[in-house]
Amino acid sequence: MIQTANIDWNKVSAIIDDYRENHEALLMIMQDISDMYNYVPPEVIPVLCERLGVKESLVYSVATFYKTISLEPRGKFIVSVCTGTACHVRGAEKLTDALEQQLDIEQGQTSADGLFTLEGVRCIGCCASGPVITVNKDTHGGLDRSKALNIVESYRQQASR
Ligand code: FES
Repeated sequence: MIQTANIDWNKVSAIIDDYRENHEALLMIMQDISDMYNYVPPEVIPVLCERLGVKESLVYSVATFYKTISLEPRGKFIVSVCTGTACHVRGAEKLTDALEQQLDIEQGQTSADGLFTLEGVRCIGCCASGPVITVNKDTHGGLDRSKALNIVESYRQQASR
């Protein structure tokens, strides 16, 4: 079961303050909040609207448009398989299949233990290293099926320490 975040309102407020309540910084504010919780908790939306003077529909538009931002709780680790052309021809699909099998989820879902969310992502700009996955902000290239599975297991072990 994925836990929803216990919101630290002081931190949320500090993030908004950092951008001087600039409504043009909405995306960056949402990204910073997302970095903290791996998603933007829906309870935060009215606060963003009030403090930044933006409409709720704009917040939802940003969340819909930018794949790095989610309004749904996600796993501790976001595993993104690059689905760009270079990675595709080098076997990205096999990585996705292997990860789906290992984590017992499909793309867009989160593992039952709440640790991993599996996503597809467009080219991340290191095509020569393909196929490539990212786990949160770490990039791993030159993968085959077993290397990808080992990487995910290393994050699982990291989480259990
Ligand atoms: S196609 Fe995967 S990094 Fe460019």
